[in-house]
Amino acid sequence: MESRKLYAIGALFNDPNKLVKLAKKIVEQGYKNWDVHSSFPIHGLPKIMRLKWSPLGYVALILGLTGTTFGLFLTWWTMSVDYPLIIGGKPWFSFPAFVPVLFELTVLLASVGTAIVMLFIIFKFPNNRHPLHDTDYLKKVSSDNCGLIIEAKDKKFNYDEIKSLFSQFEPDSIIDIYYQEEETSYKPKVFDWKFIVFLIVVAILTSAIGYLFNNVILYLPPFDFMMNQHKLNPQEASTFFNDGFGMRKPVPGTVARGEAFYPFKGKPDEAGTKLINPLLPSKENLELGKSKYNTFCSPCHGWRGEGDSRLNGQFPNPPSLHSEKVRNWSDGRIYHVIVEGQNIMPSYSKQLTEKERWAIVLYIRALQRSLNAKQEDVQ
Ligand code: HEC
Repeated sequence: MESRKLYAIGALFNDPNKLVKLAKKIVEQGYKNWDVHSSFPIHGLPKIMRLKWSPLGYVALILGLTGTTFGLFLTWWTMSVDYPLIIGGKPWFSFPAFVPVLFELTVLLASVGTAIVMLFIIFKFPNNRHPLHDTDYLKKVSSDNCGLIIEAKDKKFNYDEIKSLFSQFEPDSIIDIYYQEEETSYKPKVFDWKFIVFLIVVAILTSAIGYLFNNVILYLPPFDFMMNQHKLNPQEASTFFNDGFGMRKPVPGTVARGEAFYPFKGKPDEAGTKLINPLLPSKENLELGKSKYNTFCSPCHGWRGEGDSRLNGQFPNPPSLHSEKVRNWSDGRIYHVIVEGQNIMPSYSKQLTEKERWAIVLYIRALQRSLNAKQEDVQ
């Protein structure tokens, strides 16, 4: 016990009123290094002790704002720069969608960071040593007493003066609190350089193994096959052709698949006499014709071909398909209108295959018969 040193003198009280009076006196006398400990709250004491506000609030504010800034950067970088995805037609930097992320990061950094600052910087964890630890004084004030200490390092510290000052306030006991010097100069093993090097090596090894596994051994390419396809969009440059053009002209003397040569271009009457419907009015063909007619023709010509367009005047209404004229047209003549269009009606040859066009003609015939049935149809 050679290196025993006086840490402080403490006064223990059962009655908090006495303690408060003593505290007021100590503030008046201008002591700086003193403190009060109590196992129960004593209201108004922080004011009497003239305690300053803890700086922890500012720490939380700064950490929270750091979280928000980081969140903003993270969402902006990932969603607008590194991997831009259009989601529901929204802009890339779609702020309302990122609010939850910003909120979470703000709260996370503020709470966890503040706890870490408090533990490691203010309480100096992992150092858990303090001269008051394991003293009779601290045992008393943490069960049923309250107490006050003046530390020996206070500039005004005078052993006898303080003892007589304490005794004026009738404490239950006055205790000298000692500590051993090694206790405060103790350095926790966590800060040993060997241990820190060990931690760094472990960190590097685990990151390297994680990187190798995820990026080399178990590497999965990103699912970008919708963004990068083996095709060229109109006007895009080509690296395949020497002239760099992505859009090519048809090769001379060839006919592209599905683009069969139409010999009656601009000759509707010739088409009317020479083209013959190759399809029979089977149930299957009529169903096909109905489905295609309803999709491509009915918006203008109406469900039953009566010219009652559903376009609310956005396109001129066509004439009825039940007119004397169209009823007397041959199948080939109607087919020609689908291929070439007529005046303002556009061509539908791109949307419909040959078979589908003939099926529509069959269906129009069925519609015509439904309004102008012959005697034999009902027999
Ligand atoms: C965008 C609206 C629109 C669509 C869709 C449309 N048509 Fe037409 N169609 C018209 C108009 C308008 C006319 C009248 C053109 C004119 O002034 O000669 C017309 C005329 C016709 C005629 C000639 C009628 C006549 O009396 O001269 C036929 C037959 C015809 N369409 C069939 C079809 C078929 C079959 C389809 C589906 C493949 C179709 N139309 C799709 C607007 C349309």
